[in-house]
Amino acid sequence: MGVNKITVVGGGNTGITTAFLLTAKNLGDIVVIDLPQFANTVKGKTLDILEAAPLLGSATRITGTGSYEDTADSDLVIVTAGLPRKPGMTRNDLVKANAEVIKGVMAEVVKYSPEAIVLVLTNPVEIITHLAFRHSGLPRLKVLGQAGVLDGARFRAFVAEDLGVKAEDVTTLVFGVHGDDMIPLTRISAVNSVPLTNLIPPGRLEEIVRRTKGGGAEIVSLLGTGSAYFAPAAALTAMASSILLNENKLFSAVVNLDGEYGYKDVALNVPVILGRGGVERIVDIPLEPAEKAVIDKSVAEVKELLAANA
Ligand code: 2OP
Repeated sequence: MGVNKITVVGGGNTGITTAFLLTAKNLGDIVVIDLPQFANTVKGKTLDILEAAPLLGSATRITGTGSYEDTADSDLVIVTAGLPRKPGMTRNDLVKANAEVIKGVMAEVVKYSPEAIVLVLTNPVEIITHLAFRHSGLPRLKVLGQAGVLDGARFRAFVAEDLGVKAEDVTTLVFGVHGDDMIPLTRISAVNSVPLTNLIPPGRLEEIVRRTKGGGAEIVSLLGTGSAYFAPAAALTAMASSILLNENKLFSAVVNLDGEYGYKDVALNVPVILGRGGVERIVDIPLEPAEKAVIDKSVAEVKELLAANA
């Protein structure tokens, strides 16, 4: 097999940081595409990354473009295009604008890369991931979204800080929506197999969960303009690596469900195994009634927004 080709749609902070991390990891050749009026900016930024490649020990060839022809035959397309939140906004406030963006993007993506796996970051990610599937005609398990890896990483970072342990040793699973109703599953999160519930008193653990849920908003309000991009880009890169190198890692990812967990025609964060085929397996874990009730509510809200923006 030849070198993988990766397209990053959107040359904003997240798209460019993702391209930089993909280059550092030598995951394949990269095209970053933005609107034609931003083609020079994206050419400049990708040239800058190309010039870093020798210092990173990377063989990646990276280019920027304003034209979808240059994205042809991509193995993986990562979509970061769209508006980010401003302070005070919820992710759902972005739905109208970003639903239009994804429809336009997917038409062009599948025209040139009909075999691609598509990984979506654009918010509100459950809705945009479902629209990406619906408007592309791609197989269901080849269109997925990123949220749980980022939320899980925030949870891991806060646990590591609280306990003074290495963040890499902390394993977490965040289920459900990328919003206030996300469910960081404390009962199965651990430090090297020791459950968090044995390590952190309930009050402190609740505070960590609260901060995890608001992790995106905390950064939006500190920045004043724009939203987080280093951790989102790192999350996309981890998922891209598992897909392109067929690492078969287990992540929480936004997947278009067709009966799994009792839901259909909706995309939601659930545990999955990611490999060269995209979502290789949706992992079924038993949920407690209180968790299921929160997810039922989230699914109803997501479906309502989907119906209004189909
Ligand atoms: C975040 O949580 C951008 O939704 C993303 O920071």
